[in-house]
Amino acid sequence: MVERDKIDEIIRRTDIVDLISQYVQLKKVGKNYRALCPFHSERAPSFYVSPDKGIYYCFGCKKGGNAISFLMEYEHLDFPDALKKLARNLGIDIDTTKDLKYKELYEVNEFAAQFYSLALSKEIGRRGQNYLKERKIDLEKIKDFRLGYAPTSGGLVTFLRQKGINIERLNQAGLISQNRELFRDRVIFPIFNLSGRIIGFGGRGIDDYTQPKYLNSPETPIFKKGEVLYGIFQAKESMRTKNEAIIVEGYFDLLSLYQQGIKNTVAPLGTALTESQVMLISRNAKKVKLIFDPDPSGIKASLRAIGLLINAQTDVHVALLPEGYDPDKFINEKGVVELTKIINSAPDFFEFYKSSVKVETVEDEIALIRDLIEIISKIQDPLRFDRYLKYSARVFDISTEVILKEMKKRDVPEPERRPKSPTSNEEKIIMLIFNNIQYLPKAKEIITPEDFSDERVRRVYELLFKDETFDMADLSKYMVEEGLREKILSSLISEDRVSEADFVKALTLFKNSLQRGKIKKELAEAIRKGDEESLKKLKDLLKQKI
Ligand code: GTP
Ligand code: MN
Repeated sequence: MVERDKIDEIIRRTDIVDLISQYVQLKKVGKNYRALCPFHSERAPSFYVSPDKGIYYCFGCKKGGNAISFLMEYEHLDFPDALKKLARNLGIDIDTTKDLKYKELYEVNEFAAQFYSLALSKEIGRRGQNYLKERKIDLEKIKDFRLGYAPTSGGLVTFLRQKGINIERLNQAGLISQNRELFRDRVIFPIFNLSGRIIGFGGRGIDDYTQPKYLNSPETPIFKKGEVLYGIFQAKESMRTKNEAIIVEGYFDLLSLYQQGIKNTVAPLGTALTESQVMLISRNAKKVKLIFDPDPSGIKASLRAIGLLINAQTDVHVALLPEGYDPDKFINEKGVVELTKIINSAPDFFEFYKSSVKVETVEDEIALIRDLIEIISKIQDPLRFDRYLKYSARVFDISTEVILKEMKKRDVPEPERRPKSPTSNEEKIIMLIFNNIQYLPKAKEIITPEDFSDERVRRVYELLFKDETFDMADLSKYMVEEGLREKILSSLISEDRVSEADFVKALTLFKNSLQRGKIKKELAEAIRKGDEESLKKLKDLLKQKI
């Protein structure tokens, strides 16, 4: 573990604006910087960075923290890796013995991948080899994906035991449950995160009657299906160079394209595309081609994906395969040249939307127009927006004024801005302390954790009270209650620091009001008892505290 002082030094020396600028285009507004939030899609910027306080916060999606949490969130790194990256930027050498929980999960998955891959290369993996040959997979060309085979007879447990890994860890990684190995007689697809670590597995049954056909590792602390895309690690570079991403539905679709040289391809793990996955794509490529299966469910999935992708400001096209084909089948039967033609001539989202929604009545048509207007209204680039506005006016024979009016109607302020609950006095005090953390020693002289009656506030202050170096990453790490955390972060962005005198004054006033409350209670008690002596003493005390 890296010691606390080192962590603090790394955070202190990191320029958070420099760091975040590498990923997001920041614009200076007053003391802070502002940008479109990289963690959710939005039209008006609500993501702020405070160089002064070393934190960021999005008023829309409420994500916030310091340099470390930014890297964790953005690059999907764990704490030690994010720290290491910051340290490297600063030329600081750190010992990166990792957070045990994550380290062990990565390690188990890595060893498991080695086992499956070894099994595929041996006699025991003959069924896997034959199956992949049948599916026209050229293992040499896709070796970056480290495909494997899980033997019918198992063997993972024995292999890992030899590596010194105990069963409990296999359980945690989801590779065994109830003493049974999860994957048997399946082709194994290791699933990599953005930085190339194996976080889980997918497996396809060799026999077509195996149920389920595909099986994934269960979710673990390092494996969240909605936040990862199959192939993202291997596709990243090519996506960036081409500024284009291709999305397909399945593992084999992706591998077939990859081995034919189409390497900028990713696939969700058998579930509908999520906003988080879309953000992963839009950060690496501004153009997106969807090639989903041309069946009703594929079309439905495409329509849904279009909305998300346009929201994330990508230029979306949908490639249409002939009926009965998926990308894997198509490329294997018709070849890469034909597939490339289809990809290159893929209609844009507008064309696709219009042609795939059945319009039989005027009502159908109105619904279609409304859907498209909704999507177009999300386009930020003025040129593209204008083009689609005029285009839809022409296509549907409506004036642009009517369309714009319709957009205005639905242009409600950012839906994520849920109203904050009113801020209590105690919350205000803890916010003030965070905002002026340099005066923490003074605060400690005036206020103790027991002074707070709000449990949540007391907890946070206890942490501060005990630990001088408590920081914003901790704020998200140590279960600080969500609402309070948001309030603290948002006040860090919007409030200025105060002078030491004002700080002490505010805290003293707070403390006095607490004491007054206490004295008043005791007074009431003294009156009830008719205790003249205490009554007099308490009255004097009260006078002092006003
Ligand atoms: P092949 O039959 O192997 O060519 O697969 P496919 O990719 O053509 O299959 P399909 O279109 O049915 O599925 C697309 C993707 O959905 C797969 O690659 C899997 O990720 C996922 N999927 C399909 N069936 C299942 C299932 O039974 N369970 C789970 N968890 N995922 C599935
Ligand atoms: Mn298929």
